Amino acid sequence: MISRRNALRSMAVATAGLVHVNARSLAAWIPQAVDGKAASAVATDEDFWASIRLAYDVERTVVNLNNGGVAPAPRSVIESQRRGIEFTNELPARNLWQTLEPRAETVRAGLARIMGTVPDEIAIMRNASEALQTVQLGLTLRSGDEVVTTEHDYPRMITTWQQRARRDGIVLKQVPVPIPLRSDSEIVDALERAITSRTRVVHISHVVFITGQVMPVAAIAAMARRKGIDCIVDGAHSFAQIPCSLEGLGCDFFGTSLHKWLSAPIGTGMLAVRKDRIKDVWPLMAAPDTMDADIRKFEEIGTHPAAIHNAVADAIAFHEAIGLERKRARFRHLHSTWYNMVRSSSRISLATRFDDPSQQGALVLLTVDGVKPADLSAWLLDKHRIFTVAIEIANASGLRVAPNVYTSTAEMERFGAAIADVVSGKASVPSR
Ligand SMILES: Cc1ncc(COP(=O)(O)O)c(C=O)c1O
Repeated sequence: MISRRNALRSMAVATAGLVHVNARSLAAWIPQAVDGKAASAVATDEDFWASIRLAYDVERTVVNLNNGGVAPAPRSVIESQRRGIEFTNELPARNLWQTLEPRAETVRAGLARIMGTVPDEIAIMRNASEALQTVQLGLTLRSGDEVVTTEHDYPRMITTWQQRARRDGIVLKQVPVPIPLRSDSEIVDALERAITSRTRVVHISHVVFITGQVMPVAAIAAMARRKGIDCIVDGAHSFAQIPCSLEGLGCDFFGTSLHKWLSAPIGTGMLAVRKDRIKDVWPLMAAPDTMDADIRKFEEIGTHPAAIHNAVADAIAFHEAIGLERKRARFRHLHSTWYNMVRSSSRISLATRFDDPSQQGALVLLTVDGVKPADLSAWLLDKHRIFTVAIEIANASGLRVAPNVYTSTAEMERFGAAIADVVSGKASVPSR
């Protein structure tokens, strides 16, 4: 049997020889590498994560802690897209429509596996915006019907409801979200209080994009269901990052990007709809009535590059090779690494209850008292080559810290040391 060290060495040799550390080789290597170890033990195994890191061709001169908006894909995914684009171009009308497009069914099946559902409840989209707007604009709503969401939901999705308010006369209600959320009932009750007899939809992010707060979506969906109200879940930051299942969440509609936590090609997304609800949503682009109850009606978008969505299959292979629980444990370890270096300072606060791992995952919002987030973010990039994003939305103010599976513990220590210098007064952050 190959030992973990030997396997690692052969991978390193393979890398030196420019053979890809791809999903297939990882899938063969990972079971030996983890050797039955618990996810929490693998989380601190730098050799293991160094191999994951090598699977990505990323900018090594910058520490990228801004993986929330859009994330890089591993080399195997980029290569798959390239192959697909070249193959398409050889004989487009045949290779695209007859060979590549039918392969999207494998992608659908893979996404369904992660989402704990059946392929007939999964539509392949171009991003979370398209997935969510399909439902937001496709549900039949009348003047005076109400939609309840929060002040922490994604601006584009809010813009979509606001456009429906202008166009169709619906009423949008946004409830404030306390920071930090002290209990699940705090938000479930706030949403419930905003519901009236005219409420038709509750729209909620599974993981809040500005704070990283994991919302009690199952409780919110259950409350909506009891009242006969639709529940749309924005899973842009939860899919492939924390457990998501249509059944487990109990929601009617779930939309996500795949170019965030799945590391899929940029320009990929997914919409999951409960089978019995597909007929209730008009697609954004028209489909024939024979497709009314078919999830594929949402994909009737005309000619598009199959190579992009087909490479989602490579991202799924990569994700499944690492495993969701190992990813989660690694994110917890990466955040603990820097947070433990600075948490004793009274100037440090987080938007989530860090000591309860169920409250956040890969995204954390850090506030340093007395320092503007935009100044801190600019200083980190100029001085330390650390890339973050400053957040000033609603009552959320701070630096969003979002590592990825290719982030090393040393990089998080570098970030922690920089923040420690700021809070101790050793370094001063210039205001802009
Ligand atoms: C919570 C949330 N929803 C929706 C989106 C839209 O995602 P996309 O731009 O991939 O469509 C984002 C993007 O960051 C997001 O954070």
